[in-house]
Amino acid sequence: MMKKTIATLLAKKQSGEKITMLTAYDYTTAKIMDECGVDSILVGDSLGMVMLGYENTLPVTMEDMVRHTAAVARGAKDAWIVADMPFMSYQTSVQDAVYNAGRLIKEGGAQAVKLEGGAEVCEQIRAIVNAAIPTVAHVGLTPQSVNAFGGYKVQGKTLAEAKRILLDAMKVQEAGACAVVLEGIPAQLANVITQGLTIPTIGIGAGNGCDGQVLVYQDMMGLNDGHVPKFVKQFADLKTAMKQGIEAYIQETQEGTFPAEEQTYRFPDGVIDMLKMEGLL
Ligand code: KIV
Repeated sequence: MMKKTIATLLAKKQSGEKITMLTAYDYTTAKIMDECGVDSILVGDSLGMVMLGYENTLPVTMEDMVRHTAAVARGAKDAWIVADMPFMSYQTSVQDAVYNAGRLIKEGGAQAVKLEGGAEVCEQIRAIVNAAIPTVAHVGLTPQSVNAFGGYKVQGKTLAEAKRILLDAMKVQEAGACAVVLEGIPAQLANVITQGLTIPTIGIGAGNGCDGQVLVYQDMMGLNDGHVPKFVKQFADLKTAMKQGIEAYIQETQEGTFPAEEQTYRFPDGVIDMLKMEGLL
């Protein structure tokens, strides 16, 4: 297999083959996803919630993103690795945006970065792309705007909102974005955007008309407690599998059946006799 690039994703859009993207935040998971042949791994700032236990993505730092991106990059040989730019790493200035995008490439080993927003971040997108860093945009329900939205609500349900999101998608393409994530919008709007753009659209809660899909790993593997959003499909039940393994370990350790003979090291022949002769046994 060869390292996938933005050209791989673009070719898929043109041929109508669906693009697959999943989030990962660590070496082991990235390696497994890569072995399965996923096109792209997103080191999402969702790591704030699913890896670090924060309430939302806002506390995530550049240090968090660099460290987790580097772990994923060590695990994934072929997948195209996209790293999220965390809250306030690009909103503050164009210079900050280029500097922090550069860190995710240089120190994190990502092949592209992703930032949230439409018209208001086009200057940043232009500058990052000018620095030869492929940039994925993200419009619709952009989680870093949770406070401005007043919660995680589907966006683009009114004519005015739908027009703004469509315009945002066109503007980020014009600014040089190489792909765009469409999150939490009506499927019909995602279809119009997908048909209108030349760059690939990757949907999450945006229906099946997008050029590709992305899901948060913990959601799609059934590892999350509590509320599961409507757009999530649980493709496996890892929580049950993990609980079974952990409970079996606790039980066998408590009853003394683990470790068994096959997990135990023994002296080679003769050493016991020598130890006995030395009075050590
Ligand atoms: O942070 C993330 O995981 C994301 C996806 C939900 C697209 O941005």
